[in-house]
Amino acid sequence: MSGAAADTADAAPSATTLTHWRIATDDEGIAWLHFDKHGAAQNTLSRDVIAELGTALEQIGRDRPAGLVIVSDKPGNFIVGADINEFTTLTDQATALDLIQQAHRVFNRLADLPMPTVAMIDGYCLGGGTELSLACRYRIAADNDHTRLGLPEVMLGIHPGFGGTARLIETIGAPAGMDLMLTGRSVRPRQARSLGLVDMAVPERHLQRAARRMVHKKPAPRQPQWWIKALNSAPARPLLAHVMRKKVAARARREHYPAPYALIDLWQQHGGDKVRMLSEEAQSVARLISGGTAQNLVRVFFLQEKLKALGKTAEDGEKFAHVHVIGAGVMGGDIAAWCALQGLSVTIQDQAPEALARVVKRTHQLFSKRLREPRKITAAMDRFQPDLRGDGVRRADVVIEAIFESAEAKQQLFKVVEPQLKPDALLATNTSSIPLEDLASSLNDPSRLVGLHFFNPVAKMQLVEIVNGADTSADVAARAAAFTRQISRLPVPVKSAPGFLVNRILMPYLLEAVELLHENVPAIVIDKAATEFGMPMGPIELADTVGLDICAHVAENLTASFGGTVPAELKAKVDAGKLGKKTGAGFYQWKNNKPEKPKAENANPVPADLTDRMVLRFVNEAVACLREEIVSDAELLDAGVIFGTGFAPFRGGPMHYLNSEGTAHLRTRLESLADRHGERFTPDAGWQELE
Ligand code: NAI
Repeated sequence: MSGAAADTADAAPSATTLTHWRIATDDEGIAWLHFDKHGAAQNTLSRDVIAELGTALEQIGRDRPAGLVIVSDKPGNFIVGADINEFTTLTDQATALDLIQQAHRVFNRLADLPMPTVAMIDGYCLGGGTELSLACRYRIAADNDHTRLGLPEVMLGIHPGFGGTARLIETIGAPAGMDLMLTGRSVRPRQARSLGLVDMAVPERHLQRAARRMVHKKPAPRQPQWWIKALNSAPARPLLAHVMRKKVAARARREHYPAPYALIDLWQQHGGDKVRMLSEEAQSVARLISGGTAQNLVRVFFLQEKLKALGKTAEDGEKFAHVHVIGAGVMGGDIAAWCALQGLSVTIQDQAPEALARVVKRTHQLFSKRLREPRKITAAMDRFQPDLRGDGVRRADVVIEAIFESAEAKQQLFKVVEPQLKPDALLATNTSSIPLEDLASSLNDPSRLVGLHFFNPVAKMQLVEIVNGADTSADVAARAAAFTRQISRLPVPVKSAPGFLVNRILMPYLLEAVELLHENVPAIVIDKAATEFGMPMGPIELADTVGLDICAHVAENLTASFGGTVPAELKAKVDAGKLGKKTGAGFYQWKNNKPEKPKAENANPVPADLTDRMVLRFVNEAVACLREEIVSDAELLDAGVIFGTGFAPFRGGPMHYLNSEGTAHLRTRLESLADRHGERFTPDAGWQELE
């Protein structure tokens, strides 16, 4: 651990007692400033931590050591960023500005210290942590697997606000700096070195020596090359800013996600003047952080934390080592590959050898893309074994069934599998529509079956529904959630009822979109209305992407339970073999995995209630799910829907949207839709409980 650096050193005579920081000066006269946030698992920069840092720096300024090295005493993280808990209290601009300016004063003090200053980075160094390191003259990173550097603020609806915008650009130049801040991506140590973000990436054991060398040698601080600096000049900035805006616009709209645009504006206007850029940065972040988008994205961050916490079992620490997947189709193959990618050993069984051959090929492609290094790819392939006879069942800690969607076939299979299972092995099904109770009835011990409902594509979709049948034991469900976390997915517990949560809520919205098609509203107009609302993809493109056969199947299942009809357009496409993206034609024609979107015809006027018709069916179904306790509370519902469907994150989820728009107001809009278009819009009985 890097924090051991100065354990042998004498604690500096200190007038003030610090809770989170500790100064120790070694026999070379170097002050080591240790950060170990009191009572917290991770180092974050909260108001009190920043204030104390100010005090520590004051003392260092007085003591004048030969150099200063900032280290973390927490293994695996340097500083993960600002304390996001405090963001929720920054709902007005003045309070936000006050906190940000406090941080600016302290970071400026660090930057102004006369002696060489070094950030010795081992572990996660994100957001405010990276900004703090940029206020040091040098940065040295441990070249290991758990060190990452980045400025992910845009993901929370803000941009760097502790001086990072100006200092990053000064250190690595505008093109690379703006790219890091606009994408929010984090980089590994070697990449950070080639970008100029750190001066050195060295093996962990050499960190302290490298830090000392920096202090003694005092090389000139990093600077971008002259031609990169030139791109920060007044004539160059508007041109580059234009390109950046275009790139951002392809991913996010200014009215939904203002932060990246605010960052570009800030740089374009003040990029040539560091002092001005710093003060305007503070103003800009104060505005953003107290706005609706940032507050909702912070809410989504906490919803995600809530889901993660569900994956912690009472006997925390149980590790699943071996997974056996039965069914090497679209889902089984991807689930198995994902588990192996996450470090588990995997056997995958299918009755068809050619299915196994296809999966091995697909898995190799996934590993090559994700792992890049041949050594790692080979190791992952070694963990992934095709298993025609199903011998892996007897060794498995988790068995996941993902064969055809047939209750009989699955029941037959469970009869064969159950006697072979280890006593405490988890038994899971990936069924998307068969009630768990029907499947569990074939088992001697029905309480051991749980649903692990993954979404397609598994490597992209973070959510897994943990389906609780009437018989599923609470312990089994909790362990299934823990397994889900172990493979880096987000568990949401749901009741076994048709469509569970995600498909149930999504389907009325998709069917309404197909109904609009039937009324001759062009697909592109429908999709545009949804993306303007904030959906990541329009419903027609989504239906084509999921596969129209799968949509039709889910729709039949849900209409059988809840009424309504499957639109003739959908059935006709499936009958004609036009299944969407996978067949090259569906509602759209597909080329190179992209839909060919014709220009919208202007023949029909766009219905004024187009967006409401889709979104309010979505929201109405969410209310019904809550009433039926498909999930236990509104927060879990919002979390499940955001991570399972991509529902406009900046709106904070359907129930949060409903609350912010006003329950009575939305209900009235639904009633008027019901008057015009029929009873599918009738507000669910659950609305009464909300008012
Ligand atoms: P698929 O048709 O692509 O693959 C099924 C595989 O199971 C085939 O390779 C088949 O040879 C194999 N198989 C069938 N019976 C078997 C048996 N007795 N023993 C061993 N192998 C057997 O199916 P897909 O789409 O992967 O679906 C699998 C399950 O996942 C279904 O329950 C489905 O409802 C569910 N699901 C599907 C989603 C999707 O988007 N396709 C999404 C979420 C869940």
